[in-house]
Amino acid sequence: MKVSIFGAGYVGLGFAACLAEAGHEVLCADADAGRIDGLLRGRMPLHEPGLEALVAAGLAAGTLQFTADARTASLHGDLLFIVVNTPADAQGEVDLQHVMAVARSIGQHRDRDALVVCKSTAPVGTAEQVEAVLQGELSQRGAAHRIAVAVNPEFLREGSAVRDGRRPDRVVIGTQDPQAIELLTRLYAPFVRDAKQQLLVMDRRSAELTKYAANAMLATRISFMNEMARVAEHAGADIEMVRRGIGADPRIGPGFLQAGAGYGGSCLAKDVRALRHAADRDGHALRILSAVEAVNHEQKGRLFDLMAHHFEGRIAHKTIALWGLAFKPDTDDMRDAPSLVLLERLWAAGARVQAYDPAAMANARAIVGERGDGIRWCASAEEALQGADALALVTEWREFGQPDFAHIANTLKTPAIFDGRNLYDAAEAEAAGIAYYGIGRGRSVFLR
Ligand SMILES: NC(=O)c1ccc[n+]([C@@H]2O[C@H](COP(=O)([O-])OP(=O)(O)OC[C@H]3O[C@@H](n4cnc5c(N)ncnc54)[C@H](O)[C@@H]3O)[C@@H](O)[C@H]2O)c1
Repeated sequence: MKVSIFGAGYVGLGFAACLAEAGHEVLCADADAGRIDGLLRGRMPLHEPGLEALVAAGLAAGTLQFTADARTASLHGDLLFIVVNTPADAQGEVDLQHVMAVARSIGQHRDRDALVVCKSTAPVGTAEQVEAVLQGELSQRGAAHRIAVAVNPEFLREGSAVRDGRRPDRVVIGTQDPQAIELLTRLYAPFVRDAKQQLLVMDRRSAELTKYAANAMLATRISFMNEMARVAEHAGADIEMVRRGIGADPRIGPGFLQAGAGYGGSCLAKDVRALRHAADRDGHALRILSAVEAVNHEQKGRLFDLMAHHFEGRIAHKTIALWGLAFKPDTDDMRDAPSLVLLERLWAAGARVQAYDPAAMANARAIVGERGDGIRWCASAEEALQGADALALVTEWREFGQPDFAHIANTLKTPAIFDGRNLYDAAEAEAAGIAYYGIGRGRSVFLR
């Protein structure tokens, strides 16, 4: 099938490459001409395991093409996907300008019937707005093409976008138009094993809300576990044991139960904020989500609080080795990353940081800017340790998983590990002579 995709970001690019791999003829467009130019020259704009090879294979096979021209993309596909960014401001108001810009260009250029599919995460009612913008453009130029608008939210996880794209656990199709259902069912046929189970057809508003409800639930699980971690700390229990104990219950399941340094990323915080804002505007406050946000906000300061406790408030002039900057492993995405909060708190307290991340250094540098002596960007985890007083782990990259604790103990000036992802075995670190602080790991440092 011929497919146009507007937006070559974390979602659009992976989706385009997976469709192309399945044999669809995909044209992926982006308003950022530099990004498209780079892609055509084989330069990836983002880090996502397996994606570079998939893009290269699609280009070589001719099933994947790129353009910066909205008109060409508006004319190419039978299905046209809107996969552009939908940021939310601090209050949760979602900026739909990019979505509407795509709708306008399709309405201005399209020369025949089409199915437009909203994949961007956007508030309930956005598909109706997209439809109104499209119809406005069509009627302005006296065109009578039938352009249907469906919703198809995305549930992939950054860091495993290719795997999730190839094998989605479910595909939500928001439309009641039989022709649109048929087209989307055919498009996704190579990706689902059991269409009856995995293709969930519903009305557009329910599909839009499904995406927000999913992210709100995931955020809720994380904040719940962070709150339980506080209980564990004070009760002398280990949250990691509790996690295993409850995750084995099929009614609960093991996912998204990790206590840690707080959730981040481009989606959870933004989508929880947006959902809360929309509900507030409709006159019903979402009390659970207010608490979820408050717990997460506090949790992002947790590692710093542990350090302040350990150093008895004397953090000025300390040098902290920081392992991990990205909001999660296997991505270079720094949007809303908990590491940014820790960095700011450390700098405000007069500390210096020696940071290393396998993929997110460039994005982190672009966000935090020039900080003089406040930060040294290191080429390896080992370099970050040299001359540091203590180590903080914020992202659980695989390469941080099996450290040589004896070496860390010999290298750090006052050996201490602040483990924001509960990656390490406390007893092992302590046996090497390291003071170990995890999140909810059995003893309350504040009660000692
Ligand atoms: N990142 C995720 O893990 C994830 C998961 C599920 C859903 N989503 C949602 O998917 C959408 C895209 O997210 P993302 O992370 O890929 O964003 P992104 O910022 O990585 O990419 C968006 C791309 O759209 C391009 N763009 C903006 N306006 C355009 C236009 N008028 N025409 C063509 N291209 C345009 C931008 O230049 C950018 O390259 C968002 O609504 C997001 O909430 C993201």
